[in-house]
Amino acid sequence: MPPTNRLIVALDTVDPGRARAWAGAVAPHCGLLKLGLEFFLANGIAGYRAIAGAPIFLDLKLHDIPNTVAGGVRAVLPLRPRMLTIHASGGSAMIQAAHQAALGAGDQRPMILAVTVLTSLDQHDLQAAGVAATPADQVLRLGRLAIESGADGLVCSPKEVSMLRQTLGPAVKLVVPGIRPEGAAAGDQARTMTPAQAVEAGADWIVVGRPVTGAPDPGAAAASIAASIR
Ligand code: C5P
Repeated sequence: MPPTNRLIVALDTVDPGRARAWAGAVAPHCGLLKLGLEFFLANGIAGYRAIAGAPIFLDLKLHDIPNTVAGGVRAVLPLRPRMLTIHASGGSAMIQAAHQAALGAGDQRPMILAVTVLTSLDQHDLQAAGVAATPADQVLRLGRLAIESGADGLVCSPKEVSMLRQTLGPAVKLVVPGIRPEGAAAGDQARTMTPAQAVEAGADWIVVGRPVTGAPDPGAAAASIAASIR
């Protein structure tokens, strides 16, 4: 895989003009552009279609009954996202339904990526929700469940990538946010890795948002990150 293709830039904004400007600047240096809930809810399908230059990772983290998630996946297939996220905690039937729905796009089908345990949750939060496992064990349990149920890969934190790569093998796609280039502010990301460290640990793609979009020159910031994983 060409190294620049491992970089995914998160366009986290509700402002469609800003998102288009970022896309124009960074698309030549990255493999995918990530649009999340805030952009999609604010700008919908028309806003999505106006983002150009690289394939889209549509990060909606779907979580509902299987029939509804399948319907949601089918509804976005005409947009041809390259990646689409669901919550592994929706269970095997929901994950299978998402996978089956994605197959409807044939060769153009999006990769279905599962989110395991949100990185905002700690051991105490899991216990409060009735989950006795440690966050690491729960990530592995849900990761296995997702892959066995038809997900193509997982979104995971820098803390988890090495363990998941070693346990789940080379075929599982691992997409890793929480990335900070050398010297960048961590922001609200508690545990970070540099782009090169994440790729070394087994990431297929890294997701970077604010270190690129908050830089004075987002295109140069993306190019520099791409060069650091070359
Ligand atoms: O700006 P920053 O580089 O922190 O952006 C990271 C992106 O990755 C955001 O779009 C965020 O929603 C996403 N993400 C994350 N941590 C996760 C899952 C997704 O930061 N565990």
